[in-house]
Amino acid sequence: MKNKTLLITFGTRPEAIKLIPLIRTLKSSDNFELKVCVSAQHRQMLDSVLDEYEIVPDYDLDVMKERQSLDYLTSSIVTKTGEILDTLNPCAVIVHGDTTTAFCSALAAFYRHIPVVHIEAGLRTKNIFSPHPEEFNRRAISIIADYHFAPTKTAADTLIAEGTDKNRIFTVGNTAIDTLLYNLKCFTSEDIEDIRIEIDKKCVLITVHRREHSELELREIFEAIRTLCLRHPDVSAIYPLHKTPRIRELAKKYFDNIPNIALCEPLNTKDFHFLLSKAYMVLTDSGGIQEEAVALGIPTLVLRSVTERQEGIGHSLLLAGTNKEDILFSAERLLNDTVEYRRLSRASNVFGDGHASERIADILGKLL
Ligand code: UD1
Ligand code: UDP
Repeated sequence: MKNKTLLITFGTRPEAIKLIPLIRTLKSSDNFELKVCVSAQHRQMLDSVLDEYEIVPDYDLDVMKERQSLDYLTSSIVTKTGEILDTLNPCAVIVHGDTTTAFCSALAAFYRHIPVVHIEAGLRTKNIFSPHPEEFNRRAISIIADYHFAPTKTAADTLIAEGTDKNRIFTVGNTAIDTLLYNLKCFTSEDIEDIRIEIDKKCVLITVHRREHSELELREIFEAIRTLCLRHPDVSAIYPLHKTPRIRELAKKYFDNIPNIALCEPLNTKDFHFLLSKAYMVLTDSGGIQEEAVALGIPTLVLRSVTERQEGIGHSLLLAGTNKEDILFSAERLLNDTVEYRRLSRASNVFGDGHASERIADILGKLL
């Protein structure tokens, strides 16, 4: 009998993508009555994932506002999640990663002495301002959480070094890889026809969205991409624009009229994963895409000065920074140096084997 109510909360696209397989597994479990709460910190980008995987939330806080501040997000999510917790009184709250939704949901649960389960625990750059505010969020959740699901041994060791009780840490892999492998298995030839890739060209897949990028850093990144495309007509760049207005407005200014850069709206997850699997290289500041690129062996320039996904350095990730000349140097090396390119093209399961969600559900069944 499903006698225990468990609440899972999330609000942004990447949390949704990474929690879908866990939601499915927990929904089919006899141990729990799973309730799904979305803050809708993202609206369109979250709804797109929910629609794609046919998830209907039990609660929708609908908080997103155009150009929302962290103050606004924090206060509204803590307050609204608290109201739900008071009515539902779940046996635990599951949160994921490092977003403001994850931190605020954990905080609301902590205020009520409700146990917190943290998925993707233990990632650190050790620089509290990078990424901002995510590095703070994940450290704060680690203090609050009762159970820590670390994706890798490195993440688990980090938690132990910080003093977390090792009996409450479980190394399970990253659920990102569960979704990625599931999607690639399901991709049909009909789906493939919908995605137009110029197969005779080198597909460079680009995403940029981080809040902490200064205007100067964004300009450096965009200058590097523009120069790369102008110098290399054999490159065909695809840049699905994140919905965040500051970055998309600047990107449109930079890339309008560059013939080999295609700007588009965010892709649905299945299409994005397929495109990623076919890309020659990736330029990104995303967290999740770093994990996916390593799993597929796609050489990737990380457009940041630090990464919390250190395990991927030495596999497909190169830390390229945010300086124009550094990015160009690394990108052109990947275009010209076949030995270096091959070195970064080997797929690795360092972030997971596609079974993380099953492990988490099994362990939760025993713990709660
Ligand atoms: C958030 C997370 C970040 C995560 C990223 C994933 C925080 C503080 N940031 O950053 O950790 O890497 O999501 O993408 O939790 N917008 C829309 N529609 C959408 C989504 C966003 O219009 O579907 C616009 C809104 O104007 C919104 C703005 O983007 O105010 C920024 O969204 P927000 O969630 O605050 O920050 P992100 O940069 O997306
Ligand atoms: N993604 C997607 N469509 C896109 C771009 C990205 O589905 O157009 C997926 C991608 O495969 C990954 C996730 O979104 O799973 C990464 O989200 P994002 O970069 O916004 O956030 P982060 O991972 O940096 O928190």
